[in-house]
Amino acid sequence: MGYIPMSNRAQAAINLLVARINNLQLGIQAELGRPLIDTVSFRVKTLDSCVKKLQKKGKDLTPENLEEYVTDIAGVRVVTPFEDDVYIVADALKNQSGLNVRRTKDYIAEPKDSGYASLHLTIEVEVFFLNEKVTVPVEVQIRDKTMDAWAAIEHICGYKCQSGKKSAKVIELFKKLARDLSSFRKTAMKLRNLDEKAK
Ligand code: GTP
Ligand code: MG
Repeated sequence: MGYIPMSNRAQAAINLLVARINNLQLGIQAELGRPLIDTVSFRVKTLDSCVKKLQKKGKDLTPENLEEYVTDIAGVRVVTPFEDDVYIVADALKNQSGLNVRRTKDYIAEPKDSGYASLHLTIEVEVFFLNEKVTVPVEVQIRDKTMDAWAAIEHICGYKCQSGKKSAKVIELFKKLARDLSSFRKTAMKLRNLDEKAK
């Protein structure tokens, strides 16, 4: 039996998960009367990035090490309109059969020092190929639009650099931006709740 390349496994798991996430959106209009999901995007990590991540962790490039230490070869990002939508999506996925949430990191409840906010789930997806079934981890990042905007700007302005290279001024400005956006999110949810009450 041939060996199924890592990138094909990752893409297959992404295909299944993205279909499930898009289906949530199809059911939600009747439930909430508004959209739950703004965008769904995905990527398969390049071999180069996998090697770099293993090097950072002091590990050799082997299939076993990839499996154990690189659980984000398959990555899916879901962007929602409001902050609480993030948990509606996460809970819906947690309750689905065939998906197993291996790890949850809630950087919304506890943002990173940088100000980064997002909910990360590592979800194990069962994938069926011609003659075998494999379980593939997918890193799912769920965040609202403001968290996504923050991360996009921070990515451009230096996430991949050593944080030591960022000046104190830059670090402080990113923290301020995160605080402002957190306050924006709370107000946006209040407005939405008022609107829903008025309907
Ligand atoms: P990684 O080795 O970075 O994957 O660490 P990890 O497995 O502990 O995952 P973690 O939850 O810290 O972050 C994984 C992913 O979240 C990263 O690859 C980024 O896409 C995103 N991320 C985490 N922290 C930041 C941040 O400070 N800024 C931005 N822009 N993205 C971040
Ligand atoms: Mg990563």
